Formats: sequence, C-alpha cells, structure tokens
Amino acid sequence: MAHFTKATSVHDWLNQRLGIDTVRRVMATEYWIPKNINFLWAMGMVLAITFGLLLVSGIFLLMYYQPNVATAFDSVNYTIMKEVEFGWLWRHIHGVAASVVFLIIYIHMFTGIYYGSYKKGREMIWISGMLLFVAFSAEAFSGYMLPWGQMSYWAGMVITNLFAGGSLHADGLVEWIRGDYVPAQAFLNRFFMLHVLLIPLAILGLIGLHFGALRIPHVNNQDGEEIDFDAESKKYLAGDKAGSKVIRFANDFMSKDMMVVGIYLVFFFYLVFFHYDFAMDPVNFDPADGLKTPAHIYPEWYFLWSYEILRPFSTDVGLMAFGFAQVIFMLLPFLDRSPNALPASRRGLFKFWFWAMLIDMIVLTAMGKVPPIEPFGTIGFYAALTFISLWILLPIITMFEKKV
Ligand code: HEM
Repeated sequence: MAHFTKATSVHDWLNQRLGIDTVRRVMATEYWIPKNINFLWAMGMVLAITFGLLLVSGIFLLMYYQPNVATAFDSVNYTIMKEVEFGWLWRHIHGVAASVVFLIIYIHMFTGIYYGSYKKGREMIWISGMLLFVAFSAEAFSGYMLPWGQMSYWAGMVITNLFAGGSLHADGLVEWIRGDYVPAQAFLNRFFMLHVLLIPLAILGLIGLHFGALRIPHVNNQDGEEIDFDAESKKYLAGDKAGSKVIRFANDFMSKDMMVVGIYLVFFFYLVFFHYDFAMDPVNFDPADGLKTPAHIYPEWYFLWSYEILRPFSTDVGLMAFGFAQVIFMLLPFLDRSPNALPASRRGLFKFWFWAMLIDMIVLTAMGKVPPIEPFGTIGFYAALTFISLWILLPIITMFEKKV
C-alpha cells in the first residue's frame, strides 16, 4: 500500500489516488509537438470531435429508434423527423457527421501518406489508424441498415452476398451472417447491436491505441526533420521557448487545433442546416421492399472507390481485387521500402506515385457512382487496374529511391 497523507484539497486527494498531475503532464503539458506543422495536423482532433458528435447525436436518436422491420422506417422518418422536437436536428447532425467523417479520414490518411508519417517507428500509428478506418466503415455500413429503407435493404443484400465468395458458393455463411435467407428481423437486430454497441466500443479502444501509439514517436512534421524531442523539450523547459523546435500540446498547440476545429464546425453546421440532403440517398426514403429491386444499387460516396474495384471484373477476380483493396493500405509501411520519411515532393518517383494514387481513387469514386455503361465501364476497368498496378510498383520504385 502506498503512503497516503491527509489531503489538502480535492485536487490533492485525487492526485494521491489517481496521479492526475502525472497523467496531465504525460498527455498534455509535456507532450511535445513540433512547431513546423500545418493545419493538416489538426485533422486528428477534427476526427475526434466528429466522433463525439456522432456519439451524442446517436444517443438521442436511440431514444426513439425502433429496431423492428415493421416500425424502424416510421420511427426514423416519421417519429424522429416529424414528431419529436428537434429530432430532425439530431438526425441531420448524425447523417452529416457520418459522411463528413470519411472526408476528414481520407484527408488525414493522405496527409500521412504525403509526409511519410507511417515510417520509422510510426508503423503502429498507421496500423491503428487503418483499423479505425475498417471499424468506421463497418459502423457506417451497419448504421445504413437501420432506417430499413430500400437502399438499406438492398445494400445489405449485396454486401452480405459478397461473403458467398463467388464460385465458392458459401451460401451457408451468408445465411449465418443474415440469420435468415434474406435480410429480415434477425439481420436488423444484429446490425443494430453492432452499430450501437460492439463497433463503437471497438472504435473507442482503437482511438486509445492510436493516441497511445503517438506518444513515443511523436507526430511527424512537414519538413521531414528528425527532431530530438528530449533535447528540444529541455530547451523549452529551460526557458528558451523561441529557440526550441517544440511546443507543449496543452494549452499551446491545442489552441491552434481548436481554431481549425472552430472553422470546421461552421462548415459542418452549415451543411447540417442547409445541405443535409447530400448525406441522404433519396431511394432510402422508400421503405424496404424485398420484391422491388432498385434500378441502380450503389454504396455511399466513401465506399465507391472500392466498389468500383469490385465491379469491372468477373465475380471471382472482382472479389479478389476487392479483398486486395481492403487490406493493402494497412501494409503501406512495409511496402514502402525507402527509409526517407520526407514529404512526397522531395522523394523522386514516390511523388508521382502519390498523385497518381490520389487521382486514381477520385476517378474510381466517380465511376463507382455512374451505371456501368460505356465509356464508364472501360474507364472504371482501367482505373481499377491502375490501382492494383500502383501497389505492385510501390516496393520497386521505393527500393531504388536515393537515401536523403
Ligand atoms: C476517428 C479516427 C481517427 C482519429 C480520432 C485520429 C486521431 C489522430 C490524432 C489526434 C493524431 C495526431 C494529430 C494529427 O496528426 O492529426 C493522429 C495522427 C495520425 N493518424 Fe490518426 N486518427 C484517426 C484515424 C486515422 C486513420 C484512418 C489513419 C490512416 C491510416 C490515421 C493515421 C494517422 C497517422 C499516420 C498519424 C501520424 C501523423 C504524423 O505523425 O504526422 N489516423 N490521428
């Protein structure tokens, strides 16, 4: 048993039991951030805030939502949207946040790729980030099932069909996942459980891991500079704040983060009040009908690039290409063979690789949205081939990159 003395204040009482001063020092006042970073490094905080908005709005929606195939649609579109005071507001916040969170995740991911923030001791930050991406994708998909509209039902049908594995015909697995032959009550119940309990818990744990993974290597910087955080923080603590290359996370850096968060929230609430419809598919305002297949089934915009990698090939090849697209980003720290943790602009062929990948994913996204008629089918096919080729080329071009 540790030695306890009579507390002089509530703070002292808590400090003796929980070591709150140490926690604050380690997590905030002596968590060092490089000075040479730009607004893109605020995206992590923007993501954390958006997740908070999803959590709070989700709790309010949960008070009236009914996970029942007979009443789910009306509980969302009638009870929450029309009867409950400000129900529409919570739904708009939840819907807009679910869409915008992916925009920010993609910006955050591509910032990491551009600056090489997945290298040299930062691999766990990257891997935990990619696990967060997978968890957010599962969270978005399971949430999309809940209003039990036409797109919920048919997207649920199409995605669960993928588990049959093409010519493997693992139909038993598909039925096991659905709990029925087609999406029905068991399906809605289990996706409801995943959406409101299991996946949010996993996300919270993964955010903890992601933040923990940042603590030792610290964040990267925009110049690819190898900063000696021990020496620079000593300089800062000795009073040479201007000469030191680092600042404290709290309150110094956080105040900068909060300015970006403030601007983001203006944009976010502008969408919530004036353009919430961009986050809602009109087809999903029709109740689910297992006898009426919509003419064109497509996922939300953030899944379109991987959907377009599945679509242009035959079933088996498409499934393999789709599986490849799901895991390949996770392997980035190991496929990039160059030791240079520098901005892409200073990295030879990698610079072209980066822009080619970004443009290719935008093309895939655009092609995923349109029906597979010509010339879109051909463009989508070549864009999917380009995606796979770029990943095969990555280890080769980075192996020969000059060490800077
Ligand atoms: C909700 C999900 C996420 C949250 C809350 C989050 C939060 C954060 C925060 C606060 C930082 C430090 C500041 C910054 O660089 O922005 C960070 C850094 C980082 N995150 Fe995330 N992140 C999330 C998802 C992801 C994803 C999907 C990836 C992609 C793999 C990722 C990869 C990284 C990387 C590589 C860094 C290090 C940046 C650097 O060292 O410069 N994160 N994240």
